[in-house]
Amino acid sequence: MNLNVSIGNLILKNPITVASGTFGYGEEYSEYFDISELGAVTIKSLTLQPRLGNIPPRIVETPAGMLNAIGLQNVGIDTYLKSKLPFLREKKCTNIANIYGTSIDEYVKLAERLEKEGGADAIEMNLSCPNVHDAKNKFKCPLIAQSPEWVEKYTLAVRSSVKLPLIVKLSPNITDITEPALSAERGGADAISIINTLLGMAINPETRKPKLKNVVGGLSGPAIRPVALKMVWDVSRTVKIPVIGMGGICTASDALEFLIAGARMVAIGSYLFRDPLAPIRIIQGLREYCLNNGIDDINKLIGSVIIE
Ligand SMILES: Cc1cc2nc3c(=O)[nH]c(=O)nc-3n(C[C@H](O)[C@H](O)[C@H](O)COP(=O)(O)O)c2cc1C
Repeated sequence: MNLNVSIGNLILKNPITVASGTFGYGEEYSEYFDISELGAVTIKSLTLQPRLGNIPPRIVETPAGMLNAIGLQNVGIDTYLKSKLPFLREKKCTNIANIYGTSIDEYVKLAERLEKEGGADAIEMNLSCPNVHDAKNKFKCPLIAQSPEWVEKYTLAVRSSVKLPLIVKLSPNITDITEPALSAERGGADAISIINTLLGMAINPETRKPKLKNVVGGLSGPAIRPVALKMVWDVSRTVKIPVIGMGGICTASDALEFLIAGARMVAIGSYLFRDPLAPIRIIQGLREYCLNNGIDDINKLIGSVIIE
Protein backbone atom coordinates (compact mmCIF):
# COMPACT_ATOMS: atom_id res chain seq x y z
CA MET A 1 0.00 0.00 0.00
CA ASN A 2 1.34 3.44 -0.93
CA LEU A 3 1.32 6.15 1.70
CA ASN A 4 3.81 8.38 -0.18
CA VAL A 5 2.73 11.89 -1.05
CA SER A 6 4.65 14.65 -2.81
CA ILE A 7 5.11 18.36 -2.17
CA GLY A 8 6.93 20.00 -5.08
CA ASN A 9 9.74 17.59 -5.94
CA LEU A 10 9.90 16.25 -2.38
CA ILE A 11 8.50 12.76 -1.80
CA LEU A 12 7.34 12.05 1.74
CA LYS A 13 6.92 8.54 3.12
CA ASN A 14 3.48 9.36 4.52
CA PRO A 15 1.19 12.40 4.74
CA ILE A 16 1.80 13.08 8.45
CA THR A 17 3.86 15.95 9.81
CA VAL A 18 3.79 18.00 13.00
CA ALA A 19 2.71 21.63 13.27
CA SER A 20 5.45 24.24 13.65
CA GLY A 21 5.98 25.34 17.24
CA THR A 22 4.51 22.24 18.82
CA PHE A 23 7.45 19.86 18.22
CA GLY A 24 10.47 22.07 18.91
CA TYR A 25 13.38 20.60 16.94
CA GLY A 26 12.32 17.00 17.60
CA GLU A 27 14.68 16.22 20.49
CA GLU A 28 12.10 15.76 23.26
CA TYR A 29 9.71 13.71 21.10
CA SER A 30 12.45 11.36 19.95
CA GLU A 31 12.37 9.97 23.51
CA TYR A 32 8.84 8.75 22.74
CA PHE A 33 9.15 7.45 19.17
CA ASP A 34 11.38 7.24 16.12
CA ILE A 35 10.75 10.68 14.63
CA SER A 36 11.98 9.55 11.21
CA GLU A 37 8.70 7.62 10.92
CA LEU A 38 6.95 10.93 10.27
CA GLY A 39 6.44 12.05 6.68
CA ALA A 40 8.31 15.16 7.83
CA VAL A 41 9.31 17.02 10.96
CA THR A 42 8.29 20.68 10.83
CA ILE A 43 10.41 22.76 13.18
CA LYS A 44 9.49 25.81 15.27
CA SER A 45 9.63 29.09 13.32
CA LEU A 46 13.22 30.23 12.88
CA THR A 47 14.28 33.88 12.88
CA LEU A 48 17.63 35.45 11.99
CA GLN A 49 18.35 36.35 15.62
CA PRO A 50 17.38 34.21 18.63
CA ARG A 51 14.14 35.32 20.31
CA LEU A 52 12.96 34.99 23.89
CA GLY A 53 9.30 35.38 22.91
CA ASN A 54 6.60 37.18 24.90
CA ILE A 55 6.38 37.58 28.67
CA PRO A 56 4.45 34.76 30.49
CA PRO A 57 1.74 33.70 31.04
CA ARG A 58 1.80 32.63 27.40
CA ILE A 59 -0.53 29.62 27.41
CA VAL A 60 -4.12 29.27 28.61
CA GLU A 61 -6.29 26.17 28.47
CA THR A 62 -9.72 26.63 26.86
CA PRO A 63 -12.68 24.21 26.76
CA ALA A 64 -11.56 22.53 23.54
CA GLY A 65 -8.01 23.62 22.95
CA MET A 66 -5.60 26.30 24.01
CA LEU A 67 -4.68 29.92 23.56
CA ASN A 68 -1.00 30.72 23.09
CA ALA A 69 1.02 33.86 22.74
CA ILE A 70 4.53 32.40 22.73
CA GLY A 71 5.78 35.11 20.38
CA LEU A 72 8.17 33.01 18.30
CA GLN A 73 10.67 32.05 20.97
CA ASN A 74 13.43 30.23 19.08
CA VAL A 75 17.18 29.66 19.03
CA GLY A 76 17.83 31.65 15.83
CA ILE A 77 19.30 30.33 12.61
CA ASP A 78 22.96 30.12 13.72
CA THR A 79 22.26 27.88 16.71
CA TYR A 80 19.74 25.89 14.69
CA LEU A 81 22.29 25.07 12.00
CA LYS A 82 25.04 24.33 14.52
CA SER A 83 23.21 22.52 17.31
CA LYS A 84 19.74 21.38 16.21
CA LEU A 85 20.11 20.38 12.57
CA PRO A 86 22.79 17.67 13.17
CA PHE A 87 20.32 15.80 15.41
CA LEU A 88 17.58 15.88 12.75
CA ARG A 89 20.07 14.74 10.10
CA GLU A 90 21.42 11.96 12.33
CA LYS A 91 17.82 10.76 12.84
CA LYS A 92 17.34 10.83 9.04
CA CYS A 93 14.24 13.02 9.24
CA THR A 94 12.73 14.81 6.32
CA ASN A 95 12.86 18.33 7.62
CA ILE A 96 10.51 21.23 6.86
CA ALA A 97 12.11 24.41 8.21
CA ASN A 98 9.53 27.05 9.12
CA ILE A 99 10.86 30.62 8.88
CA TYR A 100 9.68 34.01 10.09
CA GLY A 101 11.08 37.42 9.11
CA THR A 102 10.10 41.01 9.77
CA SER A 103 10.72 41.99 6.12
CA ILE A 104 11.01 40.37 2.68
CA ASP A 105 14.76 40.65 2.98
CA GLU A 106 14.82 38.63 6.21
CA TYR A 107 12.75 35.81 4.68
CA VAL A 108 15.10 35.71 1.70
CA LYS A 109 18.20 35.64 3.94
CA LEU A 110 16.78 32.80 6.05
CA ALA A 111 15.77 30.75 3.02
CA GLU A 112 19.11 31.27 1.25
CA ARG A 113 21.11 30.22 4.31
CA LEU A 114 18.95 27.13 4.82
CA GLU A 115 19.45 26.10 1.21
CA LYS A 116 23.18 26.87 1.15
CA GLU A 117 23.89 25.04 4.40
CA GLY A 118 21.63 22.04 3.77
CA GLY A 119 19.38 23.12 6.65
CA ALA A 120 16.06 21.94 5.23
CA ASP A 121 14.34 19.63 2.75
CA ALA A 122 11.56 22.20 2.33
CA ILE A 123 10.85 25.69 3.60
CA GLU A 124 7.58 26.82 5.18
CA MET A 125 7.13 30.61 5.29
CA ASN A 126 5.16 31.62 8.36
CA LEU A 127 3.28 34.70 7.13
CA SER A 128 0.59 34.31 9.76
CA CYS A 129 1.87 34.42 13.36
CA PRO A 130 -0.72 36.36 15.40
CA ASN A 131 1.59 36.90 18.38
CA VAL A 132 4.28 39.20 17.01
CA HIS A 133 3.80 42.74 15.81
CA ASP A 134 6.89 43.66 13.90
CA ALA A 135 6.37 42.77 10.23
CA LYS A 136 6.89 45.72 7.90
CA ASN A 137 4.24 45.92 5.19
CA LYS A 138 2.85 49.01 3.64
CA PHE A 139 -0.80 47.94 3.93
CA LYS A 140 -0.44 48.01 7.73
CA CYS A 141 -2.08 44.62 8.09
CA PRO A 142 -0.96 42.99 11.31
CA LEU A 143 -0.20 39.86 9.29
CA ILE A 144 1.33 39.54 5.84
CA ALA A 145 -1.11 36.66 5.25
CA GLN A 146 -3.98 39.17 5.48
CA SER A 147 -2.77 41.03 2.38
CA PRO A 148 -3.00 39.01 -0.85
CA GLU A 149 -0.67 41.52 -2.57
CA TRP A 150 2.04 41.07 0.03
CA VAL A 151 1.64 37.30 0.15
CA GLU A 152 2.47 37.26 -3.56
CA LYS A 153 5.44 39.62 -3.16
CA TYR A 154 6.91 37.71 -0.21
CA THR A 155 6.43 34.35 -1.90
CA LEU A 156 7.89 35.53 -5.18
CA ALA A 157 10.97 36.97 -3.47
CA VAL A 158 11.77 33.72 -1.67
CA ARG A 159 10.81 31.61 -4.71
CA SER A 160 13.31 33.54 -6.83
CA SER A 161 16.06 33.01 -4.27
CA VAL A 162 15.90 29.27 -3.54
CA LYS A 163 15.06 26.01 -5.31
CA LEU A 164 13.86 24.12 -2.22
CA PRO A 165 10.15 23.20 -2.13
CA LEU A 166 8.37 26.25 -0.77
CA ILE A 167 5.30 26.17 1.47
CA VAL A 168 3.36 29.29 2.48
CA LYS A 169 1.49 29.19 5.78
CA LEU A 170 -1.70 31.24 5.89
CA SER A 171 -3.96 32.67 8.58
CA PRO A 172 -7.64 31.93 9.22
CA ASN A 173 -8.03 35.50 10.51
CA ILE A 174 -9.36 36.74 7.17
CA THR A 175 -12.70 36.84 5.35
CA ASP A 176 -11.72 34.75 2.33
CA ILE A 177 -8.62 32.58 2.67
CA THR A 178 -8.72 31.59 -1.00
CA GLU A 179 -7.44 35.08 -1.96
CA PRO A 180 -4.02 34.85 -0.24
CA ALA A 181 -3.90 31.18 -1.27
CA LEU A 182 -4.16 32.17 -4.95
CA SER A 183 -1.50 34.83 -4.34
CA ALA A 184 0.87 32.26 -2.85
CA GLU A 185 0.30 30.05 -5.88
CA ARG A 186 0.96 32.95 -8.27
CA GLY A 187 4.11 33.75 -6.30
CA GLY A 188 5.43 30.27 -7.01
CA ALA A 189 4.68 28.36 -3.79
CA ASP A 190 4.73 24.57 -4.06
CA ALA A 191 2.15 24.14 -1.28
CA ILE A 192 -0.03 26.02 1.19
CA SER A 193 -0.31 25.29 4.91
CA ILE A 194 -3.60 26.10 6.59
CA ILE A 195 -4.41 27.01 9.24
CA ASN A 196 -2.41 28.97 11.77
CA THR A 197 -4.23 29.88 14.99
CA LEU A 198 -7.44 31.92 15.29
CA LEU A 199 -7.22 35.09 17.37
CA GLY A 200 -8.81 34.69 20.81
CA MET A 201 -8.85 36.01 24.35
CA ALA A 202 -9.57 34.86 27.92
CA ILE A 203 -10.18 36.97 31.06
CA ASN A 204 -10.01 36.01 34.73
CA PRO A 205 -13.21 37.51 36.26
CA GLU A 206 -11.65 37.63 39.75
CA THR A 207 -8.76 39.85 38.72
CA ARG A 208 -10.51 41.24 35.59
CA LYS A 209 -7.19 40.80 33.84
CA PRO A 210 -6.60 38.98 30.58
CA LYS A 211 -5.17 35.54 31.28
CA LEU A 212 -2.42 36.08 28.71
CA LYS A 213 0.17 38.78 29.37
CA ASN A 214 -0.04 39.55 25.63
CA VAL A 215 -3.83 40.12 26.17
CA VAL A 216 -4.74 38.15 23.04
CA GLY A 217 -3.38 34.91 21.62
CA GLY A 218 -3.92 32.21 19.03
CA LEU A 219 -6.57 29.54 19.54
CA SER A 220 -5.67 26.00 18.49
CA GLY A 221 -6.86 22.46 19.14
CA PRO A 222 -10.18 20.65 18.53
CA ALA A 223 -12.17 23.91 18.85
CA ILE A 224 -10.81 25.10 15.50
CA ARG A 225 -11.03 21.80 13.57
CA PRO A 226 -14.28 22.51 11.68
CA VAL A 227 -13.01 25.97 10.69
CA ALA A 228 -9.73 24.50 9.46
CA LEU A 229 -11.48 21.72 7.57
CA LYS A 230 -13.74 24.16 5.75
CA MET A 231 -10.76 26.32 4.80
CA VAL A 232 -8.85 23.27 3.51
CA TRP A 233 -11.87 22.34 1.44
CA ASP A 234 -12.23 25.89 0.05
CA VAL A 235 -8.55 26.31 -0.77
CA SER A 236 -7.95 22.85 -2.22
CA ARG A 237 -10.77 23.42 -4.72
CA THR A 238 -9.32 26.81 -5.66
CA VAL A 239 -5.59 26.23 -6.14
CA LYS A 240 -3.75 23.53 -8.05
CA ILE A 241 -0.86 23.17 -5.61
CA PRO A 242 -1.12 20.85 -2.58
CA VAL A 243 -2.61 21.92 0.72
CA ILE A 244 -1.16 20.89 4.08
CA GLY A 245 -4.04 20.86 6.56
CA MET A 246 -3.84 21.45 10.30
CA GLY A 247 -6.09 22.59 13.13
CA GLY A 248 -7.23 20.35 15.96
CA ILE A 249 -6.25 17.00 14.45
CA CYS A 250 -6.15 14.38 17.24
CA THR A 251 -6.99 11.02 15.65
CA ALA A 252 -6.68 9.10 12.38
CA SER A 253 -10.34 9.85 11.76
CA ASP A 254 -9.64 13.60 12.03
CA ALA A 255 -6.68 13.26 9.66
CA LEU A 256 -8.87 11.35 7.20
CA GLU A 257 -11.43 14.17 7.24
CA PHE A 258 -8.72 16.60 6.09
CA LEU A 259 -7.37 14.27 3.38
CA ILE A 260 -10.87 13.60 2.07
CA ALA A 261 -11.58 17.36 2.10
CA GLY A 262 -8.53 17.87 -0.15
CA ALA A 263 -5.37 18.10 1.99
CA ARG A 264 -2.36 16.23 0.64
CA MET A 265 -0.64 16.25 4.03
CA VAL A 266 -1.78 16.96 7.56
CA ALA A 267 -0.02 18.23 10.66
CA ILE A 268 -0.64 17.38 14.30
CA GLY A 269 -0.12 20.35 16.65
CA SER A 270 -1.65 21.04 20.05
CA TYR A 271 -2.75 17.43 20.56
CA LEU A 272 0.92 16.43 20.85
CA PHE A 273 0.91 18.02 24.31
CA ARG A 274 -1.79 15.56 25.35
CA ASP A 275 -0.50 12.50 23.50
CA PRO A 276 3.07 12.67 22.15
CA LEU A 277 2.51 9.37 20.34
CA ALA A 278 -0.50 10.68 18.38
CA PRO A 279 1.35 10.97 15.04
CA ILE A 280 2.41 7.30 15.18
CA ARG A 281 -1.11 6.19 16.08
CA ILE A 282 -2.44 8.29 13.20
CA ILE A 283 -0.01 6.83 10.63
CA GLN A 284 -1.05 3.33 11.78
CA GLY A 285 -4.73 4.36 11.64
CA LEU A 286 -4.38 5.57 8.05
CA ARG A 287 -2.77 2.28 7.09
CA GLU A 288 -5.63 0.32 8.68
CA TYR A 289 -8.28 2.50 7.04
CA CYS A 290 -6.71 1.93 3.62
CA LEU A 291 -6.47 -1.81 4.21
CA ASN A 292 -10.07 -2.07 5.44
CA ASN A 293 -11.39 -0.03 2.53
CA GLY A 294 -9.35 -1.60 -0.28
CA ILE A 295 -7.40 1.61 -0.96
CA ASP A 296 -3.96 0.80 -2.42
CA ASP A 297 -2.77 4.43 -2.65
CA ILE A 298 -3.51 7.17 -0.11
CA ASN A 299 -3.48 9.72 -2.95
CA LYS A 300 -6.78 8.24 -4.16
CA LEU A 301 -8.41 9.52 -0.96
CA ILE A 302 -7.28 13.10 -1.36
CA GLY A 303 -10.19 15.36 -2.23
CA SER A 304 -12.56 12.39 -2.50
CA VAL A 305 -15.37 14.01 -0.49
CA ILE A 306 -18.81 13.11 -1.82
CA ILE A 307 -21.23 16.02 -1.95
CA GLU A 308 -24.74 15.01 -2.90
C1 LIG B 1 2.30 26.54 21.38
C2 LIG B 1 2.17 26.80 19.90
C3 LIG B 1 3.23 27.39 19.22
C4 LIG B 1 3.12 27.63 17.84
N1 LIG B 1 4.19 28.19 17.19
C5 LIG B 1 4.14 28.34 15.83
C6 LIG B 1 5.28 28.79 15.12
O1 LIG B 1 6.35 29.05 15.67
N2 LIG B 1 5.17 28.93 13.77
C7 LIG B 1 4.01 28.62 13.08
O2 LIG B 1 3.99 28.75 11.85
N3 LIG B 1 2.91 28.17 13.75
C8 LIG B 1 2.96 28.02 15.10
N4 LIG B 1 1.86 27.52 15.77
C9 LIG B 1 0.64 27.17 15.02
C10 LIG B 1 0.60 25.67 14.71
O3 LIG B 1 1.69 25.31 13.89
C11 LIG B 1 -0.73 25.26 14.01
O4 LIG B 1 -0.84 25.96 12.80
C12 LIG B 1 -1.95 25.54 14.86
O5 LIG B 1 -1.68 25.34 16.23
C13 LIG B 1 -3.16 24.69 14.46
O6 LIG B 1 -2.94 23.31 14.67
P1 LIG B 1 -3.38 22.53 16.01
O7 LIG B 1 -4.80 22.93 16.30
O8 LIG B 1 -3.23 21.08 15.69
O9 LIG B 1 -2.45 22.98 17.10
C14 LIG B 1 1.94 27.29 17.15
C15 LIG B 1 0.88 26.69 17.85
C16 LIG B 1 0.98 26.43 19.20
C17 LIG B 1 -0.16 25.77 19.92
